[in-house]
Amino acid sequence: MTKVSFIGAGNMAYSIIRGLLDSPRKRFVITTYDPDETKREDLEARGVSWAKTNQEAIKKSDAVILAVKPQLAAPVLQKLEIDSSQLLISIAAGVSVSSLTAWTNPNQCIVRCMPNTPALLRKGITGLFSRDNLSELQKDLATELMSSVGETSWVTEESEIDSITALSGSGPAYFFFLMEQMVEAGLELGLSEELSENLAKATAVGAAEMALASSAPLTELRQNVTSPGGTTEAAINYMERKEVSISIKKAIFEAKQKAVDLSREFGKTQ
Ligand SMILES: NC(=O)c1ccc[n+]([C@@H]2O[C@H](COP(=O)([O-])OP(=O)(O)OC[C@H]3O[C@@H](n4cnc5c(N)ncnc54)[C@H](OP(=O)(O)O)[C@@H]3O)[C@@H](O)[C@H]2O)c1
Repeated sequence: MTKVSFIGAGNMAYSIIRGLLDSPRKRFVITTYDPDETKREDLEARGVSWAKTNQEAIKKSDAVILAVKPQLAAPVLQKLEIDSSQLLISIAAGVSVSSLTAWTNPNQCIVRCMPNTPALLRKGITGLFSRDNLSELQKDLATELMSSVGETSWVTEESEIDSITALSGSGPAYFFFLMEQMVEAGLELGLSEELSENLAKATAVGAAEMALASSAPLTELRQNVTSPGGTTEAAINYMERKEVSISIKKAIFEAKQKAVDLSREFGKTQ
């Protein structure tokens, strides 16, 4: 059995723990600590041990998952005695590997990753990055842990994690935002709230599943539902006139810049 501990048992940690517990390969012994005991009863009932401190939680762990808010990463890690051979997996947004190294050991084995909230349904996607001091076994362990809640993709440059944060980390909110606008439009067009919501959600799921099932480029999928002179074309033409595509790209660039700024800010907390 492989021992995995979680520092923090908030929303994202809970999603990953649930994913691990629900995965068919039951090969993890899980321990966690969180000062907020909201999820304690539920997790203990599922076989997760609840430690009295972070130090106790990480004892003899093969992998330690840091799942506190980014601003707490420095104070929590600086207090912790972690062995450099223990794999530290940080999901904290905007906290760089060099900061994590500075707050632990110079040779600490570290994976920085960025999951997203559909992890709760095991439909997340996680970007992972590490320096080259990890063994293949540790890399496989990180992949297996994060695969329990969805897809995984390793990147070779740390800056790509900031881009992933902007694209898929924050991404579920962009789709919710679009669906909100579709529901509001439906209401203004005279549909009931319930029907508008069902239409927006079912259309989002259907479109995403079509995109996943097809090898055709997204542009082709869009063109396939855009008959010349038809209703979809009227909507797309309006969005193009309003430069919606530019706004969406710029919004994602803003998110990336924020991730970079946060990395700098948290990096100063040493
Ligand atoms: N949610 C997302 O979409 C998402 C996506 C990707 C990455 N992340 C990253 O995941 C991390 C956790 O986010 P989250 O949404 O799960 O936040 P969260 O629900 O607030 O979870 C963080 C947990 O850490 C606990 N905590 C505070 N101090 C602690 C300590 N000293 N030791 C152990 N635990 C402590 C908090 O307890 P209290 O509430 O009592 O403070 C809270 O339960 C963040 O770094 C975030 O950047 C989140």
